[in-house]
Amino acid sequence: MNEKIKVGLIGTGRIGKIHLDNLLKKFTDIQLKTVVDIKFDDDLKKLAQVSKGMDLSNDSEEIFEDPEIKAVIVASSTDTHVKFITEAVTHHKHIFCEKPIDVNVDRIKNTLKVVQDSGMNLMIGFNRRFDPNFDRLHELVKSGHVGIPQIIKITSRDPSPPPIEYIKVSGGIFLDMTIHDWDMARFQALSEVEEIFANGAALIDPEIGKAGDIDTAIAVLKFENGAMGLIDNSRQAVYGYDQRLEVFGSKGCLIADNAASNTVRMYTTECIQSDKIPYFFLDRYLQSYANELRYFFDCLQQGKPPKPDGEDGLKAVLIALAAQKSFKEKRPVKISEVAP
Ligand SMILES: NC(=O)c1ccc[n+]([C@@H]2O[C@H](COP(=O)([O-])OP(=O)(O)OC[C@H]3O[C@@H](n4cnc5c(N)ncnc54)[C@H](O)[C@@H]3O)[C@@H](O)[C@H]2O)c1
Repeated sequence: MNEKIKVGLIGTGRIGKIHLDNLLKKFTDIQLKTVVDIKFDDDLKKLAQVSKGMDLSNDSEEIFEDPEIKAVIVASSTDTHVKFITEAVTHHKHIFCEKPIDVNVDRIKNTLKVVQDSGMNLMIGFNRRFDPNFDRLHELVKSGHVGIPQIIKITSRDPSPPPIEYIKVSGGIFLDMTIHDWDMARFQALSEVEEIFANGAALIDPEIGKAGDIDTAIAVLKFENGAMGLIDNSRQAVYGYDQRLEVFGSKGCLIADNAASNTVRMYTTECIQSDKIPYFFLDRYLQSYANELRYFFDCLQQGKPPKPDGEDGLKAVLIALAAQKSFKEKRPVKISEVAP
């Protein structure tokens, strides 16, 4: 049997724990060797005691200086991504990094140059591409089943807003929440966004407005291939985590709807009812997190560059910045206006 690929994980917060769980349970050809965070909760410490071959550390150098570790999963806070990507590739390690790479375009570009020069691979965690429904829809678009894409519609609504302290440092809804949708729009349209017209308001919580952000947003996109897009976001869909997608083209239409945990519908004299949709992103996209890491490791094993890569990460940030500018200046903004 081939030797297992040894990997390190940095960050054990909400998303880091999902990756950790997948790394320990889902991949027989991968060994999670070192897990780094500035602090560990008791559950993690207990888990480390029973997980053979996995160490906890507060020092990221234990990953970077370990010649056995071939790849690093970065799931720490956004402001640490650039530093860890740079260190990892300098130590000849491949990187899987959570989105966004950073919120500053120059910093992202400099980092991508370092990655390119190193010859190491960087994959960005736009996990929704690996959701089985959205992935299938993309394959059908790509194979021409609905002809030339003309309208891309994305509904992306959270069940409830994050704490106001989170909002204050999030970078705003377009960078924090819509970032996944910018990537999804490009992925499904098979084209780059050329222009964007964004609008929004704080309709849910006035505190979000006072923090200088919005909680409800609409964006109209124009793609280079002539297609148009419409994205709607809300920080509060009271019925759950509402994630839908539609691609309308010259030969037909593809729709990926919300999936409940079961398909049973109850018919009575009053109404027809089905079960509720998942409430949180960790439930809704659970499968996609395992799929994206599996794909990353497959690429490493086959020596092919993974996607979405650093350029995809940069493009999503550029669209977000154009959306911010459009909202502020109340006009359509071309991506070229924010791409230095
Ligand atoms: N792909 C997705 O669906 C998705 C979902 C949520 C978050 N994210 C992204 O993942 C990243 C983490 O988000 P989260 O919600 O898990 O945050 P979190 O605050 O729950 O966890 C962040 C973790 O990073 C650790 N950390 C911070 N600085 C560190 C350092 N210097 N060294 C080591 N560890 C450090 C913190 O102690 C914490 O455990 C963010 O970039 C976020 O945008 C992606």
